[in-house]
Amino acid sequence: MVSVIASLLFLLLLGVLNVRAAPQTSPSALTEAEINKYTPYTYFARATYCGVSTKKWNCGESCTKNPTFKLTAAGGDGNLTQYWYVGYDPTLKTVIVAHQGTDRSKSGAVATIMDIAQVHPSKSLFPGVTANMLVHKGFAESHSRSASAVLAAVQKTLKEPGTTKHVTLVGHSLGAALSLLDGIYLPLHLPGITFSVIGYGMPRVGNKAFADYVDAHVKSLVRINNGEDPVPIMPDASSGYRHPSGEIHISNKDRKWYKCAGQENPSAECSDGSGASIFSAFTGGLDDHSGPYGSVSFGSC
Ligand SMILES: *[C@@H]1O[C@H](CO)[C@@H](O)[C@H](O)[C@H]1NC(C)=O
Repeated sequence: MVSVIASLLFLLLLGVLNVRAAPQTSPSALTEAEINKYTPYTYFARATYCGVSTKKWNCGESCTKNPTFKLTAAGGDGNLTQYWYVGYDPTLKTVIVAHQGTDRSKSGAVATIMDIAQVHPSKSLFPGVTANMLVHKGFAESHSRSASAVLAAVQKTLKEPGTTKHVTLVGHSLGAALSLLDGIYLPLHLPGITFSVIGYGMPRVGNKAFADYVDAHVKSLVRINNGEDPVPIMPDASSGYRHPSGEIHISNKDRKWYKCAGQENPSAECSDGSGASIFSAFTGGLDDHSGPYGSVSFGSC
């Protein structure tokens, strides 16, 4: 907890002013059926927190909630390299790629989220992306540690008979950031495959050129944010960070799920306008980061 408070204070020093975009169309609430469609993916994201048991797909409810899933490969150590796994779900008809979020007891993972300088993405991993694209240094380095193993696992899974040519990338928190980077990286190396990104409590990952590239290339992206979670408003927009479009925000006012148009939506129903701030970390915001997202919460396995 001390390290979390220290990191939040550190980010606070970098400025708390949010750059507010012009108002967009007012947010609309999702139906119960639309919300329930995300539940299996939420369990897939949660299974990344189960450590080594995930590598055998023997992680209790987080695994058994997706009973037809077949694991191809898994890796990571939960510290410097977030746990990840790849496999196929014939019920959902998609390859699943999942990345773990930060285990706050692991110094390597905490150092990753603190490293908020912006860097150009690696030319070998991200060939041909917009020249002025910048990404979070810690996220980029963390992503690079699993990138080639994840790509090989996805290629192997796609070769299995009966596998559809669709890949869904899921993760919570740092894991959502890694999934978004995979949402750019994997298509550059896997032509002819379609991708979806479903991130929970995703922090900002890159600059405006990054957000614009994502909007133009990642056609199916949602970032589901809960209540007054401070993570989706970090690192601060004033330090050159910007989200891509695709926010769904669960409002603490009525617990409805709102579709928030645009890259940074200032409406009260969306994260930027929800009252979430660096200070929310002291008033339950980190609980909101864990959930619940529908019936599912993160933090434990
Ligand atoms: C995590 O990684 C850091 C940085 O390399 C290292 O100092 C630390 O000992 C590691 N912690 C664990 C639990 O492996």
